[in-house]
Amino acid sequence: MPKNSTRTSDPSIGSDDLFQSEEPRSLAGLNEIIAASKPMVHGGKKAVLGEGPIGAKLAFVGEQPGDQEDLQGRPFVGPAGQLLDKALAEAGIHREDTYVTNAVKHFKYEARGKRRIHQKPTMGEIKHYRWWLLKELGFVHPRLVVALGATAAAALAGEPVAVGKSRGQYQFGDIPGFVTVHPSAMLRMPDHAEREHAFADFVRDLKSARKLVH
Ligand code: URA
Repeated sequence: MPKNSTRTSDPSIGSDDLFQSEEPRSLAGLNEIIAASKPMVHGGKKAVLGEGPIGAKLAFVGEQPGDQEDLQGRPFVGPAGQLLDKALAEAGIHREDTYVTNAVKHFKYEARGKRRIHQKPTMGEIKHYRWWLLKELGFVHPRLVVALGATAAAALAGEPVAVGKSRGQYQFGDIPGFVTVHPSAMLRMPDHAEREHAFADFVRDLKSARKLVH
């Protein structure tokens, strides 16, 4: 059990046993294991699996599913996903040709009234999910993996990565990668001009990633 984990001794949430289960032979086999795992916190629905074709040249890794992703069971379908879609379109990338997944497969949140407030995963939790992520990317075998934000970069590197300093091409062990910001960072910017500027930089990063795989 990772330190500072929100997992408790309640058997309906969290599960360590599945992380050590049989070696999957395919992405479908791995997804069965992931899908059978329990939510990270009470009230979470289910694991959100990666989406996209095996052999996709570009893969995107986010942090973890948010409220909408947890409800719909698909990655990047909420506000951050809509911004990612807009940026991909501006960068000339067809999302359906790419593979989109998350470092952490379950939504971690704190309930405040009716709202479910996103909680950042700890490094221990990121490492806990890392085996799945690396297996998954091994099956998809993209030419380039784009880390969207610090959690994704840490999951891929196995250690903390400073996004500001490491932005751009980045080697994650054997995996050729690229580090950029998470779209939700832009959603949090109160200043319109700052947000527009950050969005333009993000699109530029996506264009660079696209060029690297073509
Ligand atoms: N943020 C993420 O990191 N992943 C999602 O799937 C949605 C929001």
